[in-house]
Amino acid sequence: MTIGALKLLPPRSPPDFPDSLAIDVAGLHFPSPVGLAAGFDKDAEVPDAMLVLGFGFVEVGTVTPLPQAGNPKPRLFRLAEDQAVINRMGFNNAGQAAAIERLRRRKRRGIIGVNIGANKDSADRIADYAAGVRTMAPVADYLAINISSPNTPGLRGLQDEGALVELLGEVREARAEGGPPIFLKVAPDLETGDTERIVRVAIDMKIDALIVANTTVSRPPLKSRFAGEAGGLSGAPLKPFALQALRNFRVASGGAIPLIAAGGIAGANDAWERICAGASLVQLYSALVYEGPGLARRIADGLAERLRRSGMASIAEAVGTE
Ligand SMILES: Cc1cc2nc3c(=O)[nH]c(=O)nc-3n(C[C@H](O)[C@H](O)[C@H](O)COP(=O)(O)O)c2cc1C
Repeated sequence: MTIGALKLLPPRSPPDFPDSLAIDVAGLHFPSPVGLAAGFDKDAEVPDAMLVLGFGFVEVGTVTPLPQAGNPKPRLFRLAEDQAVINRMGFNNAGQAAAIERLRRRKRRGIIGVNIGANKDSADRIADYAAGVRTMAPVADYLAINISSPNTPGLRGLQDEGALVELLGEVREARAEGGPPIFLKVAPDLETGDTERIVRVAIDMKIDALIVANTTVSRPPLKSRFAGEAGGLSGAPLKPFALQALRNFRVASGGAIPLIAAGGIAGANDAWERICAGASLVQLYSALVYEGPGLARRIADGLAERLRRSGMASIAEAVGTE
């Protein structure tokens, strides 16, 4: 319903942000570090409307090579008492051909990342990612390789070292010379040693940034009656896990690869905390449910205020100062 309503909005220009919020990451110039996380606009129907709402960048998708229906409903649960969401959507999307058509028709500018995945019944998932890179690169300012959704069985196994080396090798080969930067989106539920291995492989394979993190399969104490639903948990209860994962990635990388934080960000304080913990950019989704469409703007304003108060001239100065 929200996407349907956003489609009816008259086209407008995105807001202007204070210069202090602009940051360059992976060769791209982001006017604000506050982005929309993947999964809201799966089929790239309303990226420009989301920029108008005040996001500095929008990640559409996950799109898979072929259309697929996703899991049976119900598959999305509001845990209002917990300010959380559980979803097991399962990459429902209209496929890459549909998304590329829409993105080609766009006239307006603004950073649009395309998050790509593999079809559930694909015989060769790595080939799906390579195909996704080839197909979507021409319309993407960056590509996000999503191997961290808990809702496609076995997908997160691609985070294991051997599989990851093979996957990222294929992905890099599929990206033509001069193609868009490639970001890798990881899960917050990693075992000891995984973080270091992922960082090492990502740097070796010249990945441009890491998105930390996707939803969690863990279940901290929750109040809602939907607490026991299967799927990925996001929103407020994810926050401590996502923040810890970010800190682990910062320690493991020492700033050698840009980090993009996601998970439970619901206000300017959360965004500032992630930036100080090492994130160059932040993304959010679940908090929109509880905070409403003005959230990205409010966070941008709050970050600009934080910079002023701390006497810093730019977001880049604050990154990793924790
Ligand atoms: C309903 C829903 C669908 C999602 N779908 C995707 C997806 O298709 N691809 C992806 O990489 N992440 C997806 N995510 C994860 C978000 O992009 C984000 O990483 C996660 O929700 C943590 O941020 P949040 O706490 O601000 O929501 C989805 C999240 C939700 C709540």
